[in-house]
Amino acid sequence: MWSHGRARRFDLAAHARTLADPLLERLLVVGTGRTILEIGPGPGRHTIPLARVARSVVAMEPSAAMRESLAANLAAAGVENVSVIAGRWPDDANGVGKVDLALCAHVLYPVVEIAPFLRGLHEDTTETIFCQMHFGQRDGPYRDLFRAMWEEARCPAPDVLDLFNVAHELGFAAEFTLAPAPAFRVFPTFENALEIALQDTLNPEGRRAEELAVAFLRERLRPEDEGFALTTDCPLSGIMSWRGEAER
Ligand SMILES: C[S@@+](CC[C@H](N)C(=O)[O-])C[C@H]1O[C@@H](n2cnc3c(N)ncnc32)[C@H](O)[C@@H]1O
Repeated sequence: MWSHGRARRFDLAAHARTLADPLLERLLVVGTGRTILEIGPGPGRHTIPLARVARSVVAMEPSAAMRESLAANLAAAGVENVSVIAGRWPDDANGVGKVDLALCAHVLYPVVEIAPFLRGLHEDTTETIFCQMHFGQRDGPYRDLFRAMWEEARCPAPDVLDLFNVAHELGFAAEFTLAPAPAFRVFPTFENALEIALQDTLNPEGRRAEELAVAFLRERLRPEDEGFALTTDCPLSGIMSWRGEAER
């Protein structure tokens, strides 16, 4: 799912983000001196600053391309208290053991079986679990383009309100706060924005699709210091947190 090209783009975008990150700010306080499990660290946007204050971090990441970026970023940062597990939560949870805190930022969109995923975090965490997802449609900026290309609406993705409802159905008394979300995509060039827009709208073929994408990008791309940004219609994310029930 995460190819090397896609993982590299995500890595660059993660480095380019400058927005305040309320989730990280909170984690830096509660995570000091703690053991932390991070599900889906990607290139390590949260992992590296957290590892600097935590006792240790276990980072579970199924994508080889993402693990490569993460390893390079950890080495460059000189961080040595992170163990990376090549695996997928909750299937590969055995052996992780109990942790003080768990973190899962922008991972849950493609997860089909959400209940075992959340129960696993609940059962293995002694203090608090933090989950972040977009509030509103992650692919929102491409919604009209997708419909014009394919003449049908794209199925909506789950968002943080779905997650909140599922958590409460499972009996987890989760709290909820809103936070700003970073630009949906950042591109170095217009050509790159076009290539990604076609990929993100599931690779339609033909000249008409490309013309639609060019017209859409001309209207929606915002120039930035290092290229162009595409922003969401609803630039918010939600942070959920609740107490785990693992015994120390
Ligand atoms: C959109 S990235 C988010 C990366 C990082 N958490 C961030 O917010 O910058 C999602 C990551 O979750 C990973 N992932 C997806 N499903 C997973 C699962 N079941 N267990 C662990 N990681 C998963 C993907 O490989 C990818 O690296």
